[in-house]
Amino acid sequence: MLYLLDTANLDEIKKAFDLYPMSGVTTNPTIISRENKSFIKILKNIRETIGQDKMLHVQVISTHAQEIVKEAEYLNKTIGGNLYIKIPVIPEGIKAIKILKLKGIKVTATAVFTAQQALIAAVSGAEFVAPYVNRIDSISGNGAGVVSQIVTLFKNYNLNCKVLAASFKNVQQVQDVSLCGAHSVTVNPAIMGDLLSHPLTDKSVTQFISDWESVYGTGKVTYDVK
Ligand code: G3P
Repeated sequence: MLYLLDTANLDEIKKAFDLYPMSGVTTNPTIISRENKSFIKILKNIRETIGQDKMLHVQVISTHAQEIVKEAEYLNKTIGGNLYIKIPVIPEGIKAIKILKLKGIKVTATAVFTAQQALIAAVSGAEFVAPYVNRIDSISGNGAGVVSQIVTLFKNYNLNCKVLAASFKNVQQVQDVSLCGAHSVTVNPAIMGDLLSHPLTDKSVTQFISDWESVYGTGKVTYDVK
């Protein structure tokens, strides 16, 4: 499982990369617009913070293939490092994915709501597909079910494309897609914290310290005592 952070906020990125085993950062136009700063500056700062090797997924705005390709080439040249261009699975997006595959530019097919959208994107050359789990669940669909179907299709057809499950609102959705064999998830910083959080873990730690300190003294740790 690869964990990615779905945010463009530098403080949140620094904190999560310090604490957790993060593989990269994903953004989309909505996430970027929340920062309300220079677009390229945001991305260059993220790249500088996470280094050249971690994945950075950045979305295009255009909806025509040639324009999408132009944006992809611009972003690839300007931001650099281990970059993935996010392209929605509209017909012109699929055309752009085919062109970018030939040019050696890596693509994450995004705004995926069905298994067939994912399969077409994968066959066209996408490296990742991003199914929107919570947005599917929100309209009485089965987000994890769609992820499961995609994982099965990629196995059936021996495709190298990976599932980057996205759009989560709670820990259970992340757990469900993990059990379905999703290769990676992108979660917001709050959910990344929630994945580890449990009141009984905190209670246990408090009890351990209290029992220890009652014998070995307040503030003492293992190397302070005999
Ligand atoms: O990165 C795209 C995806 O995570 C969108 O999430 O929460 O806006 O549905 P959300």
